[in-house]
Amino acid sequence: MKLSLSTGALARVRADLLAVAVPTQGLDKSPELKALDKAAKGALKNAAKLEDFTGKAGESLRVNVSGILAKQVLLVGVGEGGKKPRDARTLAYRAAQAASKLGSVAVALSTDDDDSIRAAAEGLRGGAYKYLTYLTGDRVPKRQLETGTLVVTRKDPAAKAALAAGEVLADAIVLARDLVNAPPNDLTPTALAEAAKAASSTFGLDYKQWDKKGLEKLGMNLFLAVNRGSAEEPRMVHLTYKPSGVKGVKKVAFVGKGLTFDSGGLCIKPAGSMIDMKCDMAGAAVTIGIVLAAARLNLPIEIHALFGATENMTGDAAYRPGDVFKSYEGKTVEIINTDAEGRLVLADVLWHAAKLEPDYLIDHATLTGACMVALGPWTAGLFANDDELAKKYLEAAEVEGESYWRLPLNDELRESLRSDVADLKHTGDRHGGSITAALFLREFIGTTKWMHLDIAGPAFLERPHGTSPKGGTGFGIATGVRFLERLAQG
Ligand code: BES
Ligand code: MN
Ligand code: ZN
Repeated sequence: MKLSLSTGALARVRADLLAVAVPTQGLDKSPELKALDKAAKGALKNAAKLEDFTGKAGESLRVNVSGILAKQVLLVGVGEGGKKPRDARTLAYRAAQAASKLGSVAVALSTDDDDSIRAAAEGLRGGAYKYLTYLTGDRVPKRQLETGTLVVTRKDPAAKAALAAGEVLADAIVLARDLVNAPPNDLTPTALAEAAKAASSTFGLDYKQWDKKGLEKLGMNLFLAVNRGSAEEPRMVHLTYKPSGVKGVKKVAFVGKGLTFDSGGLCIKPAGSMIDMKCDMAGAAVTIGIVLAAARLNLPIEIHALFGATENMTGDAAYRPGDVFKSYEGKTVEIINTDAEGRLVLADVLWHAAKLEPDYLIDHATLTGACMVALGPWTAGLFANDDELAKKYLEAAEVEGESYWRLPLNDELRESLRSDVADLKHTGDRHGGSITAALFLREFIGTTKWMHLDIAGPAFLERPHGTSPKGGTGFGIATGVRFLERLAQG
């Protein structure tokens, strides 16, 4: 979808659908809406009255109109409003969804500060998203939204830059959704690495990869243990973005869990829990998305993005409960449950990233079902060994409308990772499962300032929610990029 900015009277906006935000105070509250309704011969107020549309948040009403250049108007209730830039994102998202069978959509922004314009651009693209790669014949939509217009009061360079930033962000989110939604027979670990390579060459990032032999040379035995039961080669990928012409920049490393399929291994999952496990590489997808967007926005920060990609399968060489492996960092680990594979892959990749000596080390992983039990499907668990980092991240998330909740790295639970035969067991007791997973990861980061984001819930949804579609969501990219932008500002 091509996006643009437009100024001028709403009645003169040409589009198949024009979306406007209506507060509970009604259409008369804003002079722009009043003028629009007048040009439409009172059709908006009439329809609102007839259908009991009162402007409450969540309400919407589609009205056929004449007398203005738009063919239909979508009234979107925003309640008391005032949650910038979230309201702009939601309005645009819902407009794009409502216009999904049309050719053009316009959105009248009631606040057009830079962040609202950026959020609306992101919302429009995000709302138009569909995963169509595998559809054929009459399942292929006849039409796709071609143009999106944001109706604003200014078209200055800052507004244009905000629109462009929203598009960059949406591109990254769409890429992540496509990767997460891709079927695991096609999106193998090598295919995921290739996708990262293709994207990185388009945007001038440095790309490095390790195959099985390379991982063996490094001694990444925990990562390799997970790969043992799979017929597919593993890959570790390292993307680097270095801003040009600036000195003394901060260095941030991101690490992602890239399980292209998680069967549970020998401790196999029941069918109902296995069906969505193509989503287990969402952490890698978010990691790729963040570095790509940051590079395209020319952020003055050095960024390293690493992920470990493998399947967790049950082949005859599969790793077993009771096995002991020596980690890349040096500690030995006793395997307890082969379904707790993510932390093993992360442990080795985290240590590799820690050795780059970043100012901050941040991992994204669909790590534990326990995190969804604790926080529900829409909130990510946030663990950090640095209060400042956690605080800055939560502030960035608030602006982006993504939900995180900080959970404790409870030292008392560390005991449950004690093994009789090795330095560590890799799972703890049943209770506090997300915390013991985080405590395990903490053993492999040295003294780095680190944050672990458990995105098992929000990375992949069974039902659409807010501005997230069903399936892969791209959750985490917007907050990650916002955090980096703010870090660059000091
Ligand atoms: N990939 C799963 C976690 C997951 C569950 C992600 C649901 C998304 C939705 C992870 O590898 C896993 O299986 N974790 C186990 C850990 C347990 C064996 C200690 C879990 O959560 O049950
Ligand atoms: Mn698992
Ligand atoms: Zn997993």
